[in-house]
Amino acid sequence: MAENNFKSVLVLHGPNLNLLGLREPNHYGNNTLADIDSLMAKRAKEANINLQSFQSNSEVELIQRLHDVANGSADKKVDFIIINPAAFTHTSVALRDALSAIKVPFVEVHLSNIYARETFRHHSYFSDIAVGVISGLGAQGYLLALDYAIQTIAD
Ligand code: DQA
Repeated sequence: MAENNFKSVLVLHGPNLNLLGLREPNHYGNNTLADIDSLMAKRAKEANINLQSFQSNSEVELIQRLHDVANGSADKKVDFIIINPAAFTHTSVALRDALSAIKVPFVEVHLSNIYARETFRHHSYFSDIAVGVISGLGAQGYLLALDYAIQTIAD
């Protein structure tokens, strides 16, 4: 929660990422979502950054969370977004439009290398409007994105 003047980063996790640890470890590794969030929280704390994390299986809730960034109270305002849209990567113009609307820079993260998988995963509705994309580096991809966010928003 942004209860101070620290910069804030929002991490959005899309559908089925709540099943990490159980779900297809050959693609997504053995870390649970809680493991990933806690690694990121530790890194953020060291850097004096507020980190908010939100997972939903619902496109509506993810969009609403982005609208809260734009309209909401100070505790919902963020300087940078890290998003793994999961399956919505390949389907959701609506989530893309929400990110375009709020104009907060974001990095797109995927645990697996989407380009080494089925053809339907090769297209992302987010990559061309993202600052950058990290795909295939597992949980470390989130930490690399966070390091980038920390450096960028500190400037
Ligand atoms: C994913 C890749 C997507 O294709 C898939 O639908 C996911 C996870 C990843 O992190 O590798 O749910 O975004």
